[in-house]
Amino acid sequence: MMSRYAIYYPMHFLGIAMIVLALGAFAGHYFGGATEPHPRKKLLAIVHGIGLVLAIVGGFGLMKVFGIKHSSYLQNPWLLAKTLIWVFLAMAPFLMRKAPRQALLIFFLCIASFVFAASAAKFKSFEAWSANFKTAPAEAKPAESKP
Ligand code: HEM
Repeated sequence: MMSRYAIYYPMHFLGIAMIVLALGAFAGHYFGGATEPHPRKKLLAIVHGIGLVLAIVGGFGLMKVFGIKHSSYLQNPWLLAKTLIWVFLAMAPFLMRKAPRQALLIFFLCIASFVFAASAAKFKSFEAWSANFKTAPAEAKPAESKP
């Protein structure tokens, strides 16, 4: 049987790619000075929305792969952080439309959130993250090994 990992990992990434590219298109439109909605708003909203679903379904699937109980979900600080980022990325197009003059700021916050969400998944805690700063590259490793 095909491993869940082989399904949920690409699914998580497909979702993320769809989210961030749609956000990039929205952001460029608004910080480019547009006051009207994006001419392909509907298409972008669909890409963004399907991306959000795939990212969260993939994320929950990955939890299963890593043996993290879904019931302990919000007790995991790094998963909580990722969920808040997911909520922020979900709201970002709305925020940009409401405050187009802040679109550039929101755009950079989306970039920062992405880096944080990915690193949070890898290191799982600030201790593990900072420990890797002090480790020689050859010994550097994520908090847990892959299945
Ligand atoms: C509620 C939402 C989310 C959940 C439950 C979730 C869960 C997970 C889990 C369990 C992993 C596997 C961790 C591991 O490799 O040990 C993972 C990996 C990853 N997630 Fe998420 N995630 C969520 C949202 C996001 C968001 C919004 C982003 C980016 C914008 C993101 C980016 C990544 C990346 C890049 C990886 C791969 C890390 C790696 O293996 O190097 N995730 N996620």
